[in-house]
Amino acid sequence: MEGQRITLIMKLWLLSSLNLQHASAFNLDNTTVLRKNGEAGSLFGYSLAMHHQLKPTDQQLLLIGAPHAKALPSQKANITGGLYRCKFTTQSDDCERIPVDTEDAKPGQGIDHRENQWMGVQVKSQGPGGKVVVCAHRYQQWIHNNQLVLGRCFILEQNLIVEDTRTFCRNRPKAKDLFGYCQQGVSAAFTKDKKYIVFSGPGAYDWKGTVRMEPIEDFLLDPYETGDQNVFNERHIPLAISSLLGFALDSGTNLLKKEEQVIVAGAPRSNLSGEVLFLKPEAVEDQRSLRVAHILQGPGLASSFGYSLAVIDLNADGWDDLVVGAPQFSLTDMEAGRGGAVYVYINRRDGRDWDRLQPDILTGNKDSMFGLAVANIGDINHDGYNGSHQKMHKH
Ligand SMILES: *[C@@H]1O[C@H](CO)[C@@H](O)[C@H](O)[C@H]1NC(C)=O
Ligand SMILES: *[C@@H]1O[C@H](CO)[C@@H](O)[C@H](O)[C@H]1NC(C)=O
Ligand SMILES: *[C@@H]1O[C@H](CO)[C@@H](O)[C@H](O)[C@H]1NC(C)=O
Ligand SMILES: *[C@@H]1O[C@H](CO)[C@@H](O)[C@H](O)[C@H]1NC(C)=O
Repeated sequence: MEGQRITLIMKLWLLSSLNLQHASAFNLDNTTVLRKNGEAGSLFGYSLAMHHQLKPTDQQLLLIGAPHAKALPSQKANITGGLYRCKFTTQSDDCERIPVDTEDAKPGQGIDHRENQWMGVQVKSQGPGGKVVVCAHRYQQWIHNNQLVLGRCFILEQNLIVEDTRTFCRNRPKAKDLFGYCQQGVSAAFTKDKKYIVFSGPGAYDWKGTVRMEPIEDFLLDPYETGDQNVFNERHIPLAISSLLGFALDSGTNLLKKEEQVIVAGAPRSNLSGEVLFLKPEAVEDQRSLRVAHILQGPGLASSFGYSLAVIDLNADGWDDLVVGAPQFSLTDMEAGRGGAVYVYINRRDGRDWDRLQPDILTGNKDSMFGLAVANIGDINHDGYNGSHQKMHKH
């Protein structure tokens, strides 16, 4: 039964991907399919999360992002994107819009420009009874003749009522080589200890990108940031401009050492092929930084290694493994078409020697962009087995 459930969910993810007619996959039973439809052109299914609500009623829900959905009446825009909740039913049209981002900006905060903001580009759930985060990476704040592309995220209570707005680049230096184009929200992740949420601004520092880990609600905890929380020094981030650090995010507590918090961030345009950074929160005097502990190099020119990633203990040995998508990867040359690839790193040496771990490589068909999304679908059915899946689709 549970196995069937997982298959249904994987199927759903595939079917709801952008280009239905070209989606394909392997190892999937396609006889029983749970299908949810969104409005045409809304990019319904661009992001998806399982959410297990405990109160007021115990129920499993699917949360589905539709970044081109029409605006809600109060939003003063045409196309804003939105978030939907769907039940596990066989009905395909019973998803409901969740009211997110419906309030006006506070006085002195300028104007919220929501047109084309891509709400629902990312949605994540913290797990059973936990919170939810949903983001709009193209949200703009219009203030003092500036149109700042800050991006922002909303945190929802487990009952899907909005509880907080997070815009970490607001009120910061707004130059292009600082925080004016942060584009927060392309990715977001809850840490496994449930205390922090991880955001990124891939557009910060001239699209070098930055990653930030901040407390969810215990504000006695410190925030940490690459470049340092207090001084914003981009020289602490050993990447070139246009690296897009933070395009994908996840975290683990058993990657390099047992019980040690590590944030994993993709930088798909770093050093031409793409790189993945392991970041460790470090508190030294008044500095609170996410220090680069390790860099995994991408496989080939312009492969976009790190466009997607997921930290999962695939073999249940207590050490976290890592799955990285490189959707532009091509085996030979550009002419041959870009098949994409997914790299599976099994943490065989107790957290050491990541450079010497040979990843298992799954490659996609020509032009499939295999590896565009990878995710841990593990904790949805509580059977003690964690799986991963990959999405492929054609542009
Ligand atoms: C299921 O997959 C098989 C093999 O890819 C295909 O021939 C068949 O048409 C599919 N069935 C449905 C209902 O999509
Ligand atoms: C909404 O669409 C109308 C008609 O195309 C346009 O005039 C208006 O500027 C749009 N609103 C926003 C906020 O972009
Ligand atoms: C960039 O990639 C090249 C080739 O893979 C590698 O030798 C070099 O160390 C990388 N540079 C940085 C700064 O990561
Ligand atoms: C599956 O993943 C969850 C969350 O990352 C972890 O707590 C659990 O130990 C994992 N289970 C197995 C069998 O690896």
